[in-house]
Order: sequence, then structure tokens, then C-alpha cells
Amino acid sequence: MKLIDARRDHYRKLAHEQGFRSRSAFKLKELNKSYRIIGSGFYVLELGCAPGGWTQVAVRTVGNKGKVMAVDSSYVEEISGALILKRNIENESIVDEVFSYFRKKINSVICDLSPQVTGNWSVDHAKQISLNYSAAKIMDQVLAEKGNVLFKVFDGQYSQEFFDYLKKKFFKVIRTKPKASRKPSSELYFICLGYHG
Ligand SMILES: C[S@@+](CC[C@H](N)C(=O)[O-])C[C@H]1O[C@@H](n2cnc3c(N)ncnc32)[C@H](O)[C@@H]1O
Repeated sequence: MKLIDARRDHYRKLAHEQGFRSRSAFKLKELNKSYRIIGSGFYVLELGCAPGGWTQVAVRTVGNKGKVMAVDSSYVEEISGALILKRNIENESIVDEVFSYFRKKINSVICDLSPQVTGNWSVDHAKQISLNYSAAKIMDQVLAEKGNVLFKVFDGQYSQEFFDYLKKKFFKVIRTKPKASRKPSSELYFICLGYHG
């Protein structure tokens, strides 16, 4: 068995044992352990949440005093403790809905957006980065000062430009790849800490 398959099986088994809907849950857990993007009592907006593994981790992390709103263009089965909205983050303004739910600016935005992949990496990469810019537009309107953001990034020719764009808005931006990420090369995460606009 190849190392990547063994790792994937390991996380699939863990997800099943711990009641998570996706293996990706472990990526968020791992990244959050190192960087504390979300914490107890935080108000969190999640963009691209189906089937809900990250939402489950976010709900458990923020606890009773926190709040989670999770958005996807696909249907997501209810998760206790989160408000789930079926919306296209590019076409509809969810900013008003964010404010009517949280009633104030929020602490964190977490984005695991992936387009429908075509198999042509440059096309998929460009589309994924464009989704991240749409998410960043929402972020600019809803994130409180000193807030944190996590972006999944399909790595390619526009990644550095997106990284530099974020660097102007945050105290610190870190580029990383968690162990739980099964793809050997293509998927990165940008951890953005301390928003200053
Ligand atoms: C990798 S999945 C998210 C997995 C999730 N983090 C989990 O742990 O279960 C990426 C999601 O982004 C969503 N997505 C892509 N484009 C979108 C858009 N324009 N608006 C809303 N959601 C979108 C897809 O529907 C897909 O469910």
C-alpha cells in the first residue's frame, strides 16, 4: 500500500471512530492546534462547508459561548450548534445574514472552498483562487480587528499573488500544509493572524 493511501485510510478510520463527516476535519484540528485560528467563545463564519467535517470541529471548539455559521452551495445535513446556509458565496451577499446572526463583527473566517474540478490544473487553480478572492471580499466586511482567517489554496501561479494580497491585511500570514492533507503537492493552507484591514 502506498504511503498516501495508508494515510488516507488512517484518517478515514479516525473520522468514522470520532463521528466526523470528513477526513478534512483532522486538517482543521491539526492547523488549529498549531495556530489557534478559532478558540472557545469565538464567532466563526465557514465558507465551503459540505459535508460538514470542519463545521463539527468548529462547533466543538467554540463551545456554548461561541457561534458558527456555515455556508455551501450544496445541501448540508443539519449540525447541532451551527447555522447552515445554502448559498453561492460569489453570487449572493451573505454579509447581511452574517450580521443578523452574529449581531457584530466576528473573530474568524475559515474557507475550504473547492470548485468542481475539471482535471485541468491551471483552470482549477485559477477558479479556486477566484473563490478565495470572493471569500476575502466577505471577510473584509465581517471580520473584526485582530481576527483570524484560514484559506485552503490550490497551489499554482496565482498563489503568491494571493499570499501578498493577504499579507497587507494581517499582522502575520503563514503558508503551511498539514500532515492530514493527503495530496502530495497541490493543496496548501494560508493562516492569516491579526486582521488590521
Ligand atoms: C472540500 S469541500 C469542503 C469540505 C469541508 N471543509 C468539510 O470538512 O466537510 C469544498 C466545498 O466548497 C463548496 N463551494 C465551492 N464553490 C462554492 C461557492 N461558490 N459557494 C459556496 N460553496 C462553494 C463546494 O460545494 C464544496 O462543498
